[in-house]
Amino acid sequence: MSTMNKILPRVAGALLGVAAAATALSTELPAQSEFTHLGVASCAASQCHGSAIPRDATGVLQNEYVTWTQADPHSKAYEVLSNEQSQRIAARLGIGNAREASECLGCHADYVPAAQRGDKFQLADGVACEACHGGAEQWLASHYNSGSVTRADNLAAGMYPTNSAAARAELCLSCHLGSESKFATHRMMAAGHPRLAFELDTFTELWRTLGRQPHFREDDEYRQRKEIPSHSFTWATGVVADARLRLELIASRQFDAAGIFPELALYDCHACHRSMKTVQWRPLPRHGNAGPGLPFINDGTFVISLALASAIQPDLVDELQAALRELHASGAESVTSIRVAAAALHKVLGRLQQALTPAALRGNEPQLLAAVLKIGAAGNYIDYASAEQAFMAVQMLALEIDDPALVAQLEALGNSLNDDERYSPAQFARLLEGLREP
Ligand code: HEC
Ligand code: HEC
Ligand code: HEC
Ligand code: HEC
Repeated sequence: MSTMNKILPRVAGALLGVAAAATALSTELPAQSEFTHLGVASCAASQCHGSAIPRDATGVLQNEYVTWTQADPHSKAYEVLSNEQSQRIAARLGIGNAREASECLGCHADYVPAAQRGDKFQLADGVACEACHGGAEQWLASHYNSGSVTRADNLAAGMYPTNSAAARAELCLSCHLGSESKFATHRMMAAGHPRLAFELDTFTELWRTLGRQPHFREDDEYRQRKEIPSHSFTWATGVVADARLRLELIASRQFDAAGIFPELALYDCHACHRSMKTVQWRPLPRHGNAGPGLPFINDGTFVISLALASAIQPDLVDELQAALRELHASGAESVTSIRVAAAALHKVLGRLQQALTPAALRGNEPQLLAAVLKIGAAGNYIDYASAEQAFMAVQMLALEIDDPALVAQLEALGNSLNDDERYSPAQFARLLEGLREP
């Protein structure tokens, strides 16, 4: 799986932040708020964000436009809808031109309603500044007056709080997992769309450092202006947000695949797609008595939430485990039972979400790592989806703990996940075992 190859460079390029409080603001996503999106051309002037080189005049680098066009895959998100792969996907689905199909544009462009597109706005700009930072209608003219305009003023004028872990999780997941209004369905995947995998902290760092220069500079000046969540807090916030959003989608009636199952893209792909020559099934505690031969839901972030709970809220672990077993067992009953079980697990995870504070995570990284490894030792990473989440967690934690012996083992661990079709749970378990006593 190519995602893993791309995640690895983080080991070399890691820039560790400091722990700080992050406030969860309840706010509308950029694509949903009422503000007009003015278009990239409104941001790209050389004295604004279109400088060819990073500047030091203000805290802001001012070359974000160049970084975005040259190094950020989001600037190519619309363009890929014209490539051969997209043409094949669209032809197989019978949805016409991918560049014009709402099924694709929701995630591959800043797809706001026509009435909210300013003069310079172009759909062809892809996932552009305002897709993440919010429609600039009310803040474009004022946001750079750092003497008189505060961060709070900008947020009040519709700028999206991308620095908040909770708000960022919601933003990135809206495209990297999907939502009720836009989703990369199993049918799209069967037509050729890549499988989606995500972890907030890993993907933020991966994205931020993709170019020759980062999208933003995390220095003292930046920290004075903004709260920066720690890596472990960002990770925890992302994992629980992912798990809860998945459960909302599973519980949603809109997500029935022809009434037989909830949407198949929410299942573990390898539950169905694997060789018939070997029998890999074995009873997993978390699957309860569901037994062999049942497709199971992709529970990678649910499993990692168990590790998170055991480190920061141990009294939730039993309940979480019971709700997870129930979700899997419900697969043998009916779509309705699956929905009910999804809603119940969603509720328990809501309590875990409430327990997530920067202070609860701060300094707890060694305990978290121990919990992730312990769950692995109990045989929980038998499926690729959980192993992938475990790897991203271990990588983040090893870098946070800053233990060179651990960090040195990350490459082999990551390499063992390069090909999801050849994933070996035994090999992964051995490598994890090695991490316990570096
Ligand atoms: C829920 C959001 C979502 C929807 C809907 C969606 N995509 Fe994607 N697509 C993504 C994301 C996210 C990626 C990047 C995956 C990764 O690398 O982690 C992607 C990747 C791709 C790629 C591979 C790009 C590359 O650089 O290799 C193609 C091609 C693609 N999408 C085409 C389409 C087409 C065609 C449609 C409509 C039928 C569509 N997508 C619908 C989110 C979406
Ligand atoms: C995929 C989402 C995304 C896109 C697209 C994006 N940004 Fe950002 N941007 C972020 C995140 C996340 C941060 C870091 C959190 C923060 O500072 O709020 C950030 C930070 C920034 C900062 C703050 C730096 C600081 O020191 O305060 C600026 C300025 C910025 N982006 C400008 C732009 C411009 C201009 C574009 C378009 C050319 C753009 N961004 C496109 C997500 C995005
Ligand atoms: C409006 C939808 C949208 C939003 C919001 C969004 N992304 Fe993406 N992202 C995409 C699409 C589509 C691609 C694939 C683009 C391509 O391959 O050309 C992508 C690609 C990426 C990649 C490259 C993946 C790879 O396998 O190379 C990273 C990393 C990434 N996004 C991180 C983020 C982060 C972090 C956020 C939140 C700050 C975010 N994205 C928000 C749609 C989105
Ligand atoms: C409940 C079982 C099930 C699950 C879970 C499942 N699939 Fe499928 N998949 C199928 C079936 C059935 C087909 C159709 C096979 C055919 O048309 O011959 C299919 C077809 C495909 C194909 C096309 C294969 C081909 O040879 O044409 C791809 C690619 C694919 N699925 C990817 C995925 C991904 C990625 C996931 C996980 C996100 C996934 N599937 C989850 C049952 C499943």
